[in-house]
Amino acid sequence: MRVLLLHGPNLAALGERDPDHYGGIDLDALVAVARDEATSQGAELAHEQSDAEAALVQRVHAARNDGTGALVINPGALGHYSYALRDALELLTIPRVEVHLSNVHGRERFRATSVIAGVCSGSISGLGVLGYRLAIRAAVELATDPNGTR
Ligand code: DQA
Repeated sequence: MRVLLLHGPNLAALGERDPDHYGGIDLDALVAVARDEATSQGAELAHEQSDAEAALVQRVHAARNDGTGALVINPGALGHYSYALRDALELLTIPRVEVHLSNVHGRERFRATSVIAGVCSGSISGLGVLGYRLAIRAAVELATDPNGTR
């Protein structure tokens, strides 16, 4: 079982961005935590980050037939307005989990809107690194034990 973790624009700058919202962790360390969680759930992790909407849309398309079992995505700001990313995610039949480090409901009003939440299995926001662990765990369980009976 392979989980694809996708990061959108400006997330390669984690570690330099506002620590009050994002903590001090950089992207490599965050991906290492996610990989560790995937491993402990008996899964593998693939990861990609892009600042480009088109690249993310194309990567989501590729996930339809490359063996990806579940997707976790922090879309960055694209989650607030990218209908193209939404439509790409809607094409997938595998579980999809949206994750944000910060609490997008407690910041500027535009961040409270997610145009992708409706095409995801669920969304996590405001739990920092823990949110990633939970997102990976949810993705693996939704893919392998969708009725939650394990
Ligand atoms: C973010 C929240 C977004 O509003 C913001 O544009 C980001 C990071 C988060 O992880 O909290 O780039 O997705």
